[in-house]
Amino acid sequence: MFQADPQLSRVPGRRQPKPELDLKTASKQDHLRMVIVMDHQSPGKLDMQFPDIWLRDNCRCGECFLPQTMSRLPQLWNNLDTSVRVQQHSVDLDQEILYITWSDGHASQYPLAWLRERDFSLANRTRYLSDFYRPEPRHWSGTDFEHIRREFQYRDLLASDEALLEWLDHLAVYGVALIKQAPLEFDVLRRLCNRVGFMRRTTYGDEFSVRAQPGASNYAYLAAPLPLHTDMPYFEYKPGVTLLHTLEQSDSPGGVNLLTDAYHVADLMRERYPEQFRVLCQTSVDWADIGRDGELEFHNIWRAPVINLDAEGRYVRINHSIPQRDSHFTVPLEQVRPWYEAMALFVRLAHEEACSFKTTPGDVLTFNNLRLVHGRTGYDDTDRNVRHIVGAFIDWDIVYSRLRVLRNSKSNS
Ligand code: OGA
Ligand code: ZN
Ligand code: ZN
Repeated sequence: MFQADPQLSRVPGRRQPKPELDLKTASKQDHLRMVIVMDHQSPGKLDMQFPDIWLRDNCRCGECFLPQTMSRLPQLWNNLDTSVRVQQHSVDLDQEILYITWSDGHASQYPLAWLRERDFSLANRTRYLSDFYRPEPRHWSGTDFEHIRREFQYRDLLASDEALLEWLDHLAVYGVALIKQAPLEFDVLRRLCNRVGFMRRTTYGDEFSVRAQPGASNYAYLAAPLPLHTDMPYFEYKPGVTLLHTLEQSDSPGGVNLLTDAYHVADLMRERYPEQFRVLCQTSVDWADIGRDGELEFHNIWRAPVINLDAEGRYVRINHSIPQRDSHFTVPLEQVRPWYEAMALFVRLAHEEACSFKTTPGDVLTFNNLRLVHGRTGYDDTDRNVRHIVGAFIDWDIVYSRLRVLRNSKSNS
């Protein structure tokens, strides 16, 4: 419960003056001007902290916020007065509302429940980021794979939102999940993607068939071994999740799937080979796919490092595909050899950390294409010994969005 000043008696239903709020207006640290709210409902009974400028920017009144679009109205920003200050403030303990009147004459109200979710404390920000924004990834080594592998039943995923949520959550955390008992029909991946949102179309169409083809348009469409790779590194908007549905599997010993968590490989390099790690993070590589698939002629190229980090140093994307690395390498001469040295190490570690298994008809292998590298061993392909995999993609934005919607409806039910 919101804490009242011990010297003030609490009057139900009456608006009380400010004592719960300790307003810091430190002039020397103007950028730290904050409103501190003592809140006995928060975990550990810690104060909540809000910069005053943030509160003004996030006023919920009809002039500042449009509920039907859940979005901020832009008027304040026509000429934002960053010196705006709190003039008066009070809290209604029964309604649980914070009232503020501002130096520009504006009046705002904030429900305490709404404030609690946005408290700037480290604990609250960490909770929001890992429980709601995106689940925290857990990296795994080749020998860990048996412990993190999880299977889901196709039927459950179509029928149950709970199962759908578990699949997508597992995929977000570990980057891989296996779906079993799917029918041997071409529209399985479309139905799965439609449960999540919608499929991602690429140069190779919506669904694509991976099988040995004469005059193949893609290296994967040969029976040859397919070394560890990410799909489509030559796109700026690389497809986020790959789905591979086994319709027919080769009876030959080949056609075995290989998978490595490349974020784990990057961890090993960061720890043991920092210089080579830096080179893979900072050397831009040219990726390419040039040709035609059916009627469509294409020339796809994109330049980016193998290991891509965000502003906070976390992995956001791995790029790797030997056949789809361009012979153009548009970096200064002196960066070339160090890149090869670092990449040789990455490829060796990726092999050492790979797990392998062979899918059977009715399996759908799903994995994070920004994070895992995958491949397959070569196989014999004859008229009586055919391998046929249907592939498709879905983007992470769509997956995370579904996850949040499922989480919200679970917590509201
Ligand atoms: C691909 C691919 C895997 C397989 O087509 O990019 O990775 O098992 N295929 O054939
Ligand atoms: Zn307002
Ligand atoms: Zn692939």
